[in-house]
Amino acid sequence: MNASLESTSATPYGTLPPTATTALRKPISLPRLLEMHARGEKLTMLTAYDATFAAVADAAGVECILVGDSLGMVCQGLSSTMGVSLPTMCYHIESVARGLRRAQATAWLIGDMPYGSYHESREQALRSAATLMQAGSHMVKLEGGGWTADTVRFLVERGIPVCAHLGLTPQTVHALGGYRVQGKTPESAALMKRQAHELQDAGATLLVLEMVPAALAAELTQELKSCATIGIGAGNGTAGQVLVLHDMLGINLGKMPKFVRNFMTDAPGVKEAMQAYVAAVKNGSFPDNTQHAW
Ligand code: KIV
Repeated sequence: MNASLESTSATPYGTLPPTATTALRKPISLPRLLEMHARGEKLTMLTAYDATFAAVADAAGVECILVGDSLGMVCQGLSSTMGVSLPTMCYHIESVARGLRRAQATAWLIGDMPYGSYHESREQALRSAATLMQAGSHMVKLEGGGWTADTVRFLVERGIPVCAHLGLTPQTVHALGGYRVQGKTPESAALMKRQAHELQDAGATLLVLEMVPAALAAELTQELKSCATIGIGAGNGTAGQVLVLHDMLGINLGKMPKFVRNFMTDAPGVKEAMQAYVAAVKNGSFPDNTQHAW
């Protein structure tokens, strides 16, 4: 847990998330995340798109907050993530960063590179990534393998930490033929492994594996040494887990993915639901055998 919670403050709009004395809280850094992984502690990540939810997630002990381009679907009502722009990402990253600052939070903030913001050239990717870092990100995330390795290396060499993303990559959903499990055939599994190693060699330090068979995700997690895997619909053999906030709160407007657990079911409030998520990831009870994507 990244917080020892001490106080709450009432405002005309309700009670702000508890804050902790700074002395008791140590900011989450990349080396710290990798140390936690090295000693076998599971990493927790949740998406958040605004100041309050981000601060509550931090207070609940979530280590990594992802301002995902899933905000296009859950906040903007789009049918895919492809319509999300760089200014929109910046707006939400700035909101989350302000919320975390105000709550004296310690979470590691990851900003998603939106569709089209890194595809043209390494230079375009650097400009987009710099914009997200200036908005308050500590790390950027980009989707795909192959050509992206060169871009990842270019960003990492310039001091921008990168989280990669393989498996079901929503920005290429049309090319993949829908939101379906990736890496099921021996050929596609071998390709994903090769791409994961290339991304690690390029300097990616986190790797989201979305809708990937559990055995493949677990193998990759064991093989990669300087890059920690974060699963979503990828079984429980990954170094950590991520969920979309609205999914784990049971307020998804569409069809709930099979791998999601609604943590609000047994919780009296949002913070408690997030605490239950953190506890379940840490003790390995989420995901269980029924919570996968296939
Ligand atoms: O955009 C997003 O929220 C994501 C997560 C689902 C990993 O990429």
